[in-house]
Amino acid sequence: MRTFTPPSGPDRVVFGRGTLTRTRAEVERLGRRRILVLASRSTAEAAMALEESLGPLAVARFDGAVMHTPTEVTEKALDLALEHAADCVVAVGGGSTTGLAKALAARVGVDQVILPTTYAGSEMTAVLGETTAGVKRTRSGPEVLPEVVIYDVDLTLGLPLPLTVTSAANALAHAVEALYSPQATPATDAMALQAVGDLAAAIAAIVADPHDPGVREKLLEAAWLAGTCLGAVGMGLHHQLCHILGGAFALNHAATHAVILPHAMAYNASAVPEVMARIARAIGVTDAPSGVHDLLRAAGAPASLRELGLAQSDLAGVAGTAARASYPNPRRLDVPGVAALLDNAWHGRRPAGTAAELSLLTTQVLASFDATPNPRARRLLRDLVWHLHRFAIGNDLTEAEWRYGIDFLTRAGQITDDNRQEFILLSDTLGLSSVVDVLGGARTPESTPSAVLGPFYCDDPPDASHGTDLAKGMAGTPVWADLRVVGPGDRPIPGARVDVWQSDDQGLYDVQNPDLPEPQLRARFFTGSDGRLVFWTILPSEYPIPDDGPVGQMLAAVGRHPFRAPHIHFLIDAPGHRRLVTQLFVAGGEHLDSDTVFGVKEPLVAPFERGDGPAPGGRRVTSEWRRLTYTFRLARGPHSEAPGNPASLA
Ligand code: BEZ
Ligand code: FE
Repeated sequence: MRTFTPPSGPDRVVFGRGTLTRTRAEVERLGRRRILVLASRSTAEAAMALEESLGPLAVARFDGAVMHTPTEVTEKALDLALEHAADCVVAVGGGSTTGLAKALAARVGVDQVILPTTYAGSEMTAVLGETTAGVKRTRSGPEVLPEVVIYDVDLTLGLPLPLTVTSAANALAHAVEALYSPQATPATDAMALQAVGDLAAAIAAIVADPHDPGVREKLLEAAWLAGTCLGAVGMGLHHQLCHILGGAFALNHAATHAVILPHAMAYNASAVPEVMARIARAIGVTDAPSGVHDLLRAAGAPASLRELGLAQSDLAGVAGTAARASYPNPRRLDVPGVAALLDNAWHGRRPAGTAAELSLLTTQVLASFDATPNPRARRLLRDLVWHLHRFAIGNDLTEAEWRYGIDFLTRAGQITDDNRQEFILLSDTLGLSSVVDVLGGARTPESTPSAVLGPFYCDDPPDASHGTDLAKGMAGTPVWADLRVVGPGDRPIPGARVDVWQSDDQGLYDVQNPDLPEPQLRARFFTGSDGRLVFWTILPSEYPIPDDGPVGQMLAAVGRHPFRAPHIHFLIDAPGHRRLVTQLFVAGGEHLDSDTVFGVKEPLVAPFERGDGPAPGGRRVTSEWRRLTYTFRLARGPHSEAPGNPASLA
């Protein structure tokens, strides 16, 4: 059981587009009147717009915030704050400007209103990192926590693409490390996972159009979620390394995050495999560390510490410093391990190992479908490959097992001919046919539920007239079927074409007996002017699906019976209506709750009531007979294609 006390973040968060103009109202709500506006060189323009909207409340402006919050810069801003008796700072910019605001708040207790222009997330935390003489130290406390954060998506629209990607990597790092933090709560888990998925999708999308406001909004929202996690739980090795490298070598903060993250994840992966699996799922890969590496590289992020200007020799003491510091990390910190991590990061190597190799393989196969002209075919093929690879990887599939699988499919192919379709039987017994059937039924909820066609349908069955006996004197309990076909509003449909087929009382369909001279228990009717149709047949019995092939072997191997619950098939067509393919099941029949193709639906279970009185249709019946009364309801709409004609995805 985990114990937690979630800390609180800033008092107010305002999120939206054009929210910069709400700053004045937020400052007034705080009861402050003398604002020092803080910015960096790159946000000086936004700071001017802000100053304008703040009017006389803005008493001074400082545009000199720089990375890693050096104390000498803080001193300069502090002089300005004191000179103008500022009681509030409004910071517009990235982590550097936010850091400066916090540094001033820590010294003179001014209120802070932060307008982030990157995805750094520090606006949501009570932590301040400051650099003095090349050493970065952190302090934290309620005085450091900003009072108000105003996210204005418009402020991020012009963020250059390289900084966008590395800053998003910074946010991703917050979410990733939050997921394995010992202080994680159910709330931070949910936020972090949402942030990981949204950031990954947005990083991939922003490359195509860096100014897309929708993607910018997703990025900023995800950065807020990740920042909330950063403020709520402690971070691990990744942050420690970025902190040490940033302080000692003045490396670009966001770029350092982008380089280190995949390697820190690879270091921790063996200690938190479930966390990595959740991250991998959220970003749509099978291995999280290499997936993050691939995502960031594809978006143009730097791959190596070397690219960031670090000499290999600079790394000498870093592993030792990182391993000595005390902070929680899922995998025990050992100097050789961290040194190897840094070496990989310096060279910009892709995280290695079987999982990384497999993930690359899946990614390459998925990418091979990118040029498929039909988008539906592309989606179906990619998703099929994704699930097949996951199936093999998740089950550590052996070559012998897969060879058996190939052999199984080969045998299914070999037994298949014009009269026997083993692949349909396989689809049926795996429940896939019924899944597709239920999906189809959901598109026409107003119609009678459909059921699988099965392999025994024949095109153009013999025409029959009302009152005919389909059984032609065969053994079995006679059934008088009195059926109606209606459309919306219970309006009878005259002239509807109704194909009927069923097994005999031995459980065999006519097509299974090549010696039969003519079709049996199979006919085509047309409804009368009242939408009605009547005929005699016999009570269907349960029967085994063909089980002398590989599907039968599968059923036997898993201890499943091959029986279908007793039923009669119908295929109904009427102009202006959707085709209905369905079955009626005998209430009280065998295997209703264990139909081997999972085809029974409750509304299709019909009473085949015991008949009393004289038999209908002028027939003399001396034995027991049954009466089936049922109304089929068709949905309006265009005709679907013929049963044997699969949809083309060419
Ligand atoms: C049938 O009901 O005819 C059937 C359905 C699926 C598999 C085998 C038979
Ligand atoms: Fe059947």
